[in-house]
Formats: sequence, C-alpha cells, structure tokens
Amino acid sequence: MTDLLPVLTDTWDHDRSWKLATYEAAGGYAGLRAALAMDPGDVVQAVKDSGLRGRGGAGFPTGMKWGFLPPPDGGPRYLVVNADESEPGTCKDIPLMMASPQHLVEGVIITSYAIGCHHAFIYVRGEVLHVYRRLLEAVREAYDAGYLGTDIQGSGFDLEVTVHAGAGAYICGEETALLDSLEGRRGQPRLKPPFPAVAGLYARPTVVNNVESIASVPGIVARGADWFAGMGTEKSQGHGLFSLSGHVVTPGQYEAPLGITLRELLDLAGGVRPGHELKFWTPGGSSTPIFTAEHLDVPLDYESVGAAGSMLGTRALQIFDDTTCVVRAVSRWTDFYAHESCGKCTPCREGTYWLKQVLHRIEAGLGEERDVDLLLDLCDNILGRAFCALGDGATSPITSSIQYFRDEYEAHLGGRGCPFDPARSTLFD
Ligand code: NAI
Repeated sequence: MTDLLPVLTDTWDHDRSWKLATYEAAGGYAGLRAALAMDPGDVVQAVKDSGLRGRGGAGFPTGMKWGFLPPPDGGPRYLVVNADESEPGTCKDIPLMMASPQHLVEGVIITSYAIGCHHAFIYVRGEVLHVYRRLLEAVREAYDAGYLGTDIQGSGFDLEVTVHAGAGAYICGEETALLDSLEGRRGQPRLKPPFPAVAGLYARPTVVNNVESIASVPGIVARGADWFAGMGTEKSQGHGLFSLSGHVVTPGQYEAPLGITLRELLDLAGGVRPGHELKFWTPGGSSTPIFTAEHLDVPLDYESVGAAGSMLGTRALQIFDDTTCVVRAVSRWTDFYAHESCGKCTPCREGTYWLKQVLHRIEAGLGEERDVDLLLDLCDNILGRAFCALGDGATSPITSSIQYFRDEYEAHLGGRGCPFDPARSTLFD
C-alpha cells in the first residue's frame, strides 16, 4: 500500500505494547525531543504544512485550529483531548489508547508545547473503564520518566495532564458539551461562536482535538510535514485508522492513507462474509449518509466522499450484507439518537422521538402509506434546525436509506411488516 505505514499501529502486536518501554524501543518520543528543540511556532507551522485534518469526524485543519488561539495574555490556555468516542460503529480511538497510549501522551506534550498550554486534559468516555485505567497508567509512566511535570527533559517547559472520565453520554463528545461536563456541569452544547479556541474551558482559550489527531502529531514532528503530506490525496493528506465492522470476514482497524477505497479495504479484511453480497455501508459512522455497493470505488477522502453524497466522518465502515433489513438497521440507530438527545433543543429532542415512533410502527407492520414521506418531512424539520450536529446526524441514515431503499420501506407497509428473516441477520439481535 505504502512503505510509509504503519504509523499509529506500528507496535500494536508487540508484547505489552502499551508500556512506555515498548514505545521508546520502537523510536517513541523522538518527536518530543525534536519539538523541544524547535520554536513552538515552528511546531504549529509543521502541523499546518502537514495538512493534518481533525480525525474526530469534521476534518477541520488541525494546525489552523491551533492558529485560532488569541495571542498569549498571561492567563492559562488549555488542550482538551476528546476521547469520548461514542459514534455507533466508531472504534478507532479506544483501540489506539489501549494498544499504544504513549502515541497520545507524546502528542499531548508536543501540542501543549506548541500552543503554550501547561495543563492538558484527556476526557475519556465513562463506560470504558479499562481505557481510563490504561491512560492513568500511561500518564503515570510519562511522569516517572520526566516527560511530564516540571522542566520536561531539561527544556524548562512544564505540563500537567489530567485524565477525566465522563459519565457515558454521547452528547459529551460534542466539544462544548464536553467542556461543560469537564467543568462539572450537565453536558449540553454551548452556542458557537465563541468557539473554544477563543472561550473554551473555564472561558479560556482552548484547543479541543480528537485522540487520533493528537496521536498523529509526534510522527509529523519526528519525520517532517512532507512525510505526512506525502500520503493520501491532495486535500486529504496523511494516514488514518479505518474501522471495519459488521458482515466482514476480519473486522478491525486498518491503517491506510486517506483515499483508499472500501474495495481495497475489503481485500485486506477478507471481504464480505462468504456467500453474501454487500448491501449497504456507512463511510463514517451512523451519522453519515449510507452508501451502497455502487460506492465501493469511492476514494475515502473528505472531498470524494462528500462529492458522492456522504461524509468521511470517523471512517467507521459498518458493513451490511444482503441479510440485513435496512429499516431495522436505521431504526436501531434512531433509537440510539433518541436516547442520547440531550434535550436542549426541540427539533432534536422531539424530532428524534417522533422518528423512532414512526420507524417502530413501520417495522411492526403498522405503518401507513404516508409514513415514508412523514419520515422525510420530520428529517427536513430537524436538519439545520437543531442546536448541534446530533440532530443532523440522526437524519442522515434515514434520508439516505429512503433514497436507496424506498421499496424496502414500502414493503413493510400495509400490515406486511419486515420481509426479512430475523434469524438470518446476525447484526441486530
Ligand atoms: P464543526 O465543523 O462544527 O467543528 C469542527 C472543529 O473546528 C471544532 O473543533 C470547531 O471548534 C472548529 N472550528 C470550526 N470553525 C471554527 C472557527 N471559525 N473558529 C475556530 N474554530 C472553529 O464540527 P463538530 O460539530 O465539532 O463535529 C461534527 C463531526 O463530529 C461530525 O462530522 C461527525 O463525523 C463527528 N462525530 C464524531 C463522533 C465520535 O465518536 N468521534 C461522534 C459524533 C460525531
């Protein structure tokens, strides 16, 4: 694929891969040594030049985000790592933090140095206690080795890192809800602007970045912006973790340059399970419009996926074969969004609940002819009218699945119910 890979997954199969000693033996912390010898502004410039775009889903240029911080005013500024990975199908940050947490810790130190932060936070999803423990251990090892604390590696740079476990709410992955939660309040999104870069944690300038984004920084600094920019496509550069799940022979994380296609990834993953055909898939988690077999050769970069009608999002490729009822799959996702809606805004709070009710009655064979259009109308009243991206995301699988599989929705109506044999589908039991 490319001789520049693997990067983030390079030590995942090493014995005790999560230990600092394993990471250092594989060349870890070379990026920090290089960064501490540089001017902080040059580190920011290197990340800008690399083309790294936020790996949490939105793809906003990371270096540009750092550049939005106002000039130092003598007060604190913060780095907050969004490790609240919760998007259905998204499972890249959690394996990364379990297998190689020092990639993240080193990235936190370099980023903090670059932006002038002396207290960084890692906000990890509450349910994943094992990840929380692993991060605590990784941070402790970094303190013991002199990578954290005062006068790091004799550079005069000081940094404290706090690992904070959330309480298990999907909305707390939205960056401003995360900040409210970190401040000890109920996690609900704030109005933007001001963006966190201007007024974030404790109303101070704050950079909020995804785990994979920050973990990608050490490689960029150690090997150079050109090395990173040499992978991927012209506008979607570098490497990324692609998470394949569902009806695929070998599910898991596949590290590849952006721009790889699902067809190529399926070749690596052994294909769709034997005897079955690909029916539909998500390019970037369940809040991105679904794709079908006709999209197998769409390059998985921000521009190409967008041009084909979806979003690259979190690169969570959920694969569904011909045994799957699309209405069932979409209904299951909608249950999730209705459950996780924080309730702050009416379109999302009421809209996701209504969507759930209509989908349930269609599934149960109680749907009427007008219900498919009713779903589209509800989505139209949520999209662009909700307070944050949660509401919009909830509509994506519904509108796209009706676009590609309207017949299948209609086959459920008029008392008929689901035409699929639930015993044959293994995904949604
Ligand atoms: P967004 O596009 O609103 O913002 C992206 C980032 O750029 C934010 O950090 C924002 O503060 C920053 N930004 C944008 N314009 C700015 C400006 N003018 N000045 C300063 N900073 C600016 O997207 P959002 O709502 O943060 O994320 C949505 C994405 O999250 C979705 O596309 C989805 O793929 C992803 N997502 C990921 C989940 C996960 O588990 N990883 C869960 C749910 C959604």
